[in-house]
Order: sequence, then C-alpha cells, then structure tokens
Amino acid sequence: MHPTGRIGIMAAMPEELQALLDVMPDETMVRRAGREFWVGHLHGRDVVAVLSRIGKVAAATTSTVLLTEFGVDQLLFTGVAGGLGDGVRVGDVVVADALMQHDMDASPLFPRFELPGLGLDALSPPGALTQQVRETVERVLSEVHLEALGLGQARVHQGLIISGDQFIHCAQACAGLRQALPQALAVEMEGAAVAQVCHDFQVPYAVVRTISDRADDDAHIDFPRFVSTVACHYSVAIIEALLRQMRP
Ligand code: ADE
Repeated sequence: MHPTGRIGIMAAMPEELQALLDVMPDETMVRRAGREFWVGHLHGRDVVAVLSRIGKVAAATTSTVLLTEFGVDQLLFTGVAGGLGDGVRVGDVVVADALMQHDMDASPLFPRFELPGLGLDALSPPGALTQQVRETVERVLSEVHLEALGLGQARVHQGLIISGDQFIHCAQACAGLRQALPQALAVEMEGAAVAQVCHDFQVPYAVVRTISDRADDDAHIDFPRFVSTVACHYSVAIIEALLRQMRP
C-alpha cells in the first residue's frame, strides 16, 4: 500500500472523541463495521478519528478497519488506565514502551503470556515515535496544574502497559497483577490488542494512557469523574501538540 501520511486516532472514551471532533474543522462520518469513523484534518494532517470500543476484540476490529479500509499509516491511541506501578498516581500519564495481554494464557501449550504464533509476550511500539510522544506529553503536562482537583503535578512514566478484558477494581485483583507482572505500570483493556494488529501490519503506533484510578476498590468511583474533568482534555492537548509537531 502507498504511504498516505494519514494518522489514525483511536479514543477510548466518547468524551475524548467528542473533544477531538470539536477541534477538527471538517470531519465527515463514514460507517464501517458498526462504527463511526470521522475522516478529516487536524493541524494540517489527514486524520481519521474513531472510538476504539471497549475490550481487546473490539479494539482489534477498530484498528484493523483503520489500517485496511482507511489506509492510516500511523496509529495513536489515547485513553485512561488504572495505575499499578509504585508512584504511578491518578493524573499521571503513561506512555507505553511495551504492551502485554495479562489474560493471555495458553499454557501448557505455550508459556504464560506468550502470543501463540508470534513467540513473544510483549510487543514494543517503535522507539522513535515513543520518544517523540513522551517528549510531547512532558511538554503538555508541564503546562497543566491539577491542584483544584486535589491532585499534584502530573508526571510522565514510560514502560509496560498491560491489557485484559476486565475492569480491575479490587485490591486483590490488582495485587495478583502486580505479582504476575511486577514491571507493569498501568492496566487497561485495549492497548495490547491494538499493538498486535499494528505489529501484524507493520504500522507504527503509540499508546498513551492517563491514570484515572489505582485499579483498587475505589476504581469505579474515581473513573467517571476523572474522565470528564481531566482525561479528555489531556488527550486532546496531547494529540494536538503531537500533530503540530509532526506537520509535514
Ligand atoms: N481503564 C481505566 N481504569 C481501568 C482499570 N482499573 N482496569 C481496566 N481498565 C481501566
């Protein structure tokens, strides 16, 4: 396929997608696979924005359609996640430099977490794009202050994000994940699936997650409040800053 220079933007939450559409001047909607894909421009770049839908299969379908039917040749995923790593607090942002499915377990046929057929358990987005995203997020976050929400200065972390088809909302589940994958910084429900699709199609991608909760007994309380007050504004600011910088 010829390079299109088109960037796919997958948003995990409707509030995030709406905030993005609010700053796109000319989007038109194309329906595929029961999803609404918004084709247009942002800061001079061709973009296609879409809601990922929740869970690994849904996110894999959405990303496959973006790559095969809309011909995007880079994919950015933004959303929220539960914080797992020490010092990864609500309001912080995690940029993935590796992604794993924490619920992949085909043992004893394959080692736990290994992706059958790939011989890998973790997938890594391209280093140069990850670095660019990290620097952009650092710049954006240095300009936001969340004291009004009782949150301190947000920090940027780079490392392993794990995905599975569960919303983790109890201390016991959280402790189990920390024990199995101690290097994991954050847990969510889509990133590793998107990574696998991009890996198969050899398309560069980045996954950025704002921490909305600590995946513990209070996760369901923190989550909705955080999405509307903080996360969607972060996502749009990060995407706008990235696209301005990527301008051809
Ligand atoms: N996304 C945001 N918070 C999450 C959590 N606690 N578990 C899974 N996905 C999430």
